Amino acid sequence: MDAALDRSIRERIEVEKARTAPPPDAIAVPQIPTGRYTDPEFYELEKAKVFGRCWLFVGHESEWSVPGSYRMTHRSGAPIVVVRGQDGVLRAFYNSCRHRGAPVTRDECGTARRLTCQYHSWSYGTDGILKTVPDSRSFVGLDKDSLGLIPVRCEIWDGWVFISEDAGACPLVEFLGPIADQMSEINGPGMRAVGTQVHQLDCNWKLMVDAFLEVYHVRTVHPDNAALLYNDQSATVSMLPNGHSRLTVEKHDIFQDFPMVSEEHDNPAIPLLWRQTSTSFGIFPNLVVPVDTGAFTFLCMWPTGPATTELELRWYAPEWSGDEVPQEHLDRMELFETVMAQDKANMAPIQASISSPGARPLQLGWHERLIHHFERAVDKFIGTDALPPETAMSDQLDDYVEAI
Ligand code: FES
Ligand SMILES: [Fe+2]
Repeated sequence: MDAALDRSIRERIEVEKARTAPPPDAIAVPQIPTGRYTDPEFYELEKAKVFGRCWLFVGHESEWSVPGSYRMTHRSGAPIVVVRGQDGVLRAFYNSCRHRGAPVTRDECGTARRLTCQYHSWSYGTDGILKTVPDSRSFVGLDKDSLGLIPVRCEIWDGWVFISEDAGACPLVEFLGPIADQMSEINGPGMRAVGTQVHQLDCNWKLMVDAFLEVYHVRTVHPDNAALLYNDQSATVSMLPNGHSRLTVEKHDIFQDFPMVSEEHDNPAIPLLWRQTSTSFGIFPNLVVPVDTGAFTFLCMWPTGPATTELELRWYAPEWSGDEVPQEHLDRMELFETVMAQDKANMAPIQASISSPGARPLQLGWHERLIHHFERAVDKFIGTDALPPETAMSDQLDDYVEAI
């Protein structure tokens, strides 16, 4: 791990633990308008301008294990198929046939040499090129070369696969900025999928993201698990470019050198600082990754409506031998469900309350500023001129964005 970053985070942890008042450079965090969580117009803008433009996490490269492996995703809104070509390259396409628009695959995942539409059997190679048109004698001037599947951007960083519907989006690594280097410490290419948990939440997607960007709620909501493990007074955060963030919270002393994972399933790449703390990366817009040795999860918040969200927990662990998932990974997933159940139970009542006439703009402490940072990035993607009245975030924290 970069020695300067390690030293900087450790020093900041000590400053956080020692302070008895806001830090000298802190300002009152500007309020957050509640309409951002309730207004259907705001939601539609997010779908188009945030989820329609950003890089979105869809999995690990090993989940497309052989040429022809494909997986569907609908979660950004549009049906998209991500497929490994016979040449080994991973690509993404809209799942829409160039004949009359039907899906070219209706299975969520599988392996195929061709993607064949089930309406009239036009078939496409795994590179998206139109290969076969039955009864082509009836089409006048058909130019098959120009009728390939419509591509969606698909890039891999350190084994992690992202897609973007924005043909003009900057390269993924550039979008991730310093996070790309910092997270590569976990040796992404050496990871493997463990399993997925999905929860339906009755809240706006941003309410759930917000809850992963602070540890202030941990003592109240998770008194019997996370609060026993972490010292919330040590929470140290960085607002990174493009709405990304890093949050580090120290484990209580007795747990710092306590092995949480068997030697067999330990990830040797994980730096000491991340073993002694919980460090989570917020990857804008909807991904939070609390890195850990052993198995850990990529938390994805997928909007399904203005006040509904699908929370998808995709678990990964260092490569292991054999087909069966090691029991200790399954145990960790189950344990985490306890924490998630507490967060989940918290969300619907908050959505109801902030949707009521009694709701007023949200007041944040300095230790919750990552939420402001995240919300401000939403505005930047939508375009501040396009926001519905009285929903805009302030720009007052823009100068606090850090390079590492
Ligand atoms: S819509 Fe696909 S073959 Fe007709
Ligand atoms: Fe929580």
